[in-house]
Amino acid sequence: MSMTQAAFKAEQAIGHDDNATTAQDVTNPDQSPGAAGDGKMKALAWIAKNKVEMIEVSKPKIMEPRDVILKITGSTVCGSDLHLLHGTVVELQKGDILGHEFCGIVDEVGSEVTKLRKGQRVVASFQIACGTCFYCKQKLSSQCEKTNSNTLENAMYGGRTAGMFGYSHFTGGFAGGQAEYTRVPYGDVNLLPLPDDVPDEKGLYLSDVLATSWHAVVDTGVKKGDTVAIWGAGPIGQMAADFSLLNGAERVIMVDQNWRLDYVKKTYPHIDTLDFSALGKGETVTSKLKEMCNNRGPDVSIECAAGEYAKSWAHKFEMMLGLETDTSEIVNEMITSTRNFGSCGITGVYVGFTNHFNIGSLMERGIRLIGNGQAPVHLYWESLLKMIQDGQIDPLKMVSHRVRLEDLDKVYTAFENRDDGMQKVFAETKWSAPACKGSPELKRF
Ligand SMILES: NC(=O)c1ccc[n+]([C@@H]2O[C@H](COP(=O)([O-])OP(=O)(O)OC[C@H]3O[C@@H](n4cnc5c(N)ncnc54)[C@H](O)[C@@H]3O)[C@@H](O)[C@H]2O)c1
Ligand SMILES: [Zn+2]
Ligand SMILES: [Zn+2]
Repeated sequence: MSMTQAAFKAEQAIGHDDNATTAQDVTNPDQSPGAAGDGKMKALAWIAKNKVEMIEVSKPKIMEPRDVILKITGSTVCGSDLHLLHGTVVELQKGDILGHEFCGIVDEVGSEVTKLRKGQRVVASFQIACGTCFYCKQKLSSQCEKTNSNTLENAMYGGRTAGMFGYSHFTGGFAGGQAEYTRVPYGDVNLLPLPDDVPDEKGLYLSDVLATSWHAVVDTGVKKGDTVAIWGAGPIGQMAADFSLLNGAERVIMVDQNWRLDYVKKTYPHIDTLDFSALGKGETVTSKLKEMCNNRGPDVSIECAAGEYAKSWAHKFEMMLGLETDTSEIVNEMITSTRNFGSCGITGVYVGFTNHFNIGSLMERGIRLIGNGQAPVHLYWESLLKMIQDGQIDPLKMVSHRVRLEDLDKVYTAFENRDDGMQKVFAETKWSAPACKGSPELKRF
């Protein structure tokens, strides 16, 4: 049994808390009592570490009066799904349906759903919010207190996040949207109607990427005239770069490796790049960034990579031996690179504990280190939708491939290997509308 499955067994032995107001551990309609509806559907399920499969499973049904059953017309794979695939995020079980970014058409509504009707086009937020608790009242929905009763998360973190779609039992255990249908608890709260002038291929990314990148920028505190450095040039980093400029930054420098930076150079020619795999003798990311920024360093730095990406053998060994769960290398690099009294934000996923953290540089030089948290989608998605309508934001810039839901198991492999430059995908289903203008051509596997 892998570490991630063992952690779920431990949670089952300890038992959940009683704070949740929605059913927990409903990650697969056929494995959760009272969750299966009539008819079958296709879905992408986690099977074991480094193994996902397309499965046929019962459709979900309305379990609670505020549920909505959504017919999925678009989903995608996220850098965060790789942490599930690798088993870095704990408490996965065989058969868990993945996918936390999806849009679709309302198919059924529970008796207490008031704001949505059958046939409406909507996008879901990746987190499940109740809409009324202490955090939800402030739209800090990623920290909702009523949708996740996981005990291990509470003990380990001293508090919990909200429940999340397709993101293991650690975050409540909810079936995700890499499927033909999904059950959405508190449908009125967690689904945003999409207007006719916003196609699925753009609206879908309000689920996560757009809100996450926007939050990374404003939460870390990018101001007019700032120079911003971003570690990780994936979709999150790319959008954070764009949004830094929209928030007044004068210059953005992206730190990553050759193949990723090639895409950035082509698509975002106004953004500077730094390839950490092509440094000269004696050079470091920090020394290079100082050189590029008046020998002081960037004003603001944002981590959009992840704690599982160790660079040195020392950290690779420590992680392998279970001496730490996350490397401190990227965060240390951010701290030492940033100018004195500058700010650093962490948006890439970190799961637990790290060694060799440069606390001295942080303290002595007055670096403001901010955990950006799981991004509170509800705080931003309405204004971001308007920005898509106004043409200020074009999510299609980061979309490299259009694929079919039926091929998602193969897409995970291609996504992990970055085959054919694959980064953000749009996964269509049999109910999707024809591709909108600007969408990549459909690729079959
Ligand atoms: N906080 C949130 O709410 C939230 C939401 C969504 C995604 N995320 C996380 O944000 C991160 C980025 O997401 P994504 O979809 O763009 O992922 P991605 O996997 O496509 O991109 C990550 C990039 O980081 C780069 N990288 C790895 N090690 C690096 C290093 N040492 N220095 C610089 N770059 C390095 C990789 O080459 C890759 O290009 C992931 O960890 C994801 O889980 C967080
Ligand atoms: Zn995501
Ligand atoms: Zn809440």
